[in-house]
Amino acid sequence: MSSSATATATVILFLITTFISTTTTTAEIRITEIRSDPRPIIPFDEFGFTHNGRLELNVSKLSFSSPDPDLSKLGFFLCTRDSWLHVLQQIEDAEIACALQSSVIKLVYSFNSLTKGANGFNHFYLQSDADQYTLVFANCLPQVKLSMDVRSAMYNLDGKSKTRDYLSAGITVLPRVYFFFSVVYFSLGAAWVYLLYRKRLTVFGIHLFMLAVVVLKALNLLCEAEDKSYIKRTGSAHGWDILFYIFSFLKGITLFTLIVLIGTGWSFLKPYLQDKEKKVLMIVIPLQVVANIAQVVIDESGPYGQDWVTWKQVFLLVDVICCCAVLFPIVWSIKNLREAARTDGKAAVNLMKLTLFRQYYVVVICYIYFTRVVVYALETITSYKYLWTSVVAAEMATLAFYVFTGYNFKPEAHNPYFAVDDDDEEAASEQLKLEDEFEL
Ligand SMILES: *[C@@H]1O[C@H](CO)[C@@H](O)[C@H](O)[C@H]1NC(C)=O
Repeated sequence: MSSSATATATVILFLITTFISTTTTTAEIRITEIRSDPRPIIPFDEFGFTHNGRLELNVSKLSFSSPDPDLSKLGFFLCTRDSWLHVLQQIEDAEIACALQSSVIKLVYSFNSLTKGANGFNHFYLQSDADQYTLVFANCLPQVKLSMDVRSAMYNLDGKSKTRDYLSAGITVLPRVYFFFSVVYFSLGAAWVYLLYRKRLTVFGIHLFMLAVVVLKALNLLCEAEDKSYIKRTGSAHGWDILFYIFSFLKGITLFTLIVLIGTGWSFLKPYLQDKEKKVLMIVIPLQVVANIAQVVIDESGPYGQDWVTWKQVFLLVDVICCCAVLFPIVWSIKNLREAARTDGKAAVNLMKLTLFRQYYVVVICYIYFTRVVVYALETITSYKYLWTSVVAAEMATLAFYVFTGYNFKPEAHNPYFAVDDDDEEAASEQLKLEDEFEL
């Protein structure tokens, strides 16, 4: 008990302390309305350019709060994260007064070039230095508030065909990655159906539920592949994004419910749920609803949107609570099994179940830890060109988790729990005694 409590505490600690805000770069064509904004720096989207990068900027309804501002102090530029630190240093050292004067930025458009009396402009910018840039607007006039509608589109031209690719350089392979994993899950689903048919006499309710989880995961990946590929081709996200959100939502809820149900031993160990186990479900399911709403807002508003940070925090908080909540039923089951092992005299049977549940506990922790912490860390340390690798890592970990769960809780024709001989029984009670001594 004490070791599992320590493990739980470690996971909670890691989830909370690893609050690395990472920005996934989906550079759709974005339309931003800016109204009487006094901010000196307004960041827009971030995008990974190849050597064939393009930026289209269309600004309209431009107006200033003061009649005749110094236009050379207003403008758009592109900047990498590293060079931004450099710019800040230059400003601090008073080398320059305005970010637009820095030599390390790529000036896209200075309002100097604005035709007199015009209230907007269209600008086309070639970006041939491959790197990850953020589009930024600088307003170096402290007194001036400004309003404008900005339409920004960043894309790369594909090698030979010269078609536009609106996905950032590091994630342009994602549609194929998602499609591949979707095929894998559909195959797993088919294999599962075959297995359920062959072992139909020992199939429990939970096995059908597992099938639903796998199918939803496959559908979710398929929609994500289609959605990303639509963004890649057109720059806007209105392909299958609604379907994608629906399946993400169902997948999230069913996966967490499944982990709780397996953890409680529902339909393996007992046909009903205890009140406290039902309470866990009543916490986890509504929180998953909140998490999914937060995820939609996060995806739809860019990383610099005003609500982005708030929703990101909501999402992380809810996610941490859900991840911790699903561990409780497993801990309770382990405790119950240990007690049962001592009292009901079927040591071998209970030891097998106990080992299985302990393994499951460790695997759930590893899964949560990997998909939350390791993947975020990977996202932060890998170069923008290889951002897709963190997606692959997360999907591999998820796949491993699904396979482990399916393999260990599959329907058994000869239930090994009830076929033990006396030698096994003796060995098992010996081990349980040993464990009791060392309080494992
Ligand atoms: C935006 O500006 C680009 C570059 O000048 C131009 O080709 C494009 O047609 C403009 N788009 C809109 C919607 O005005």
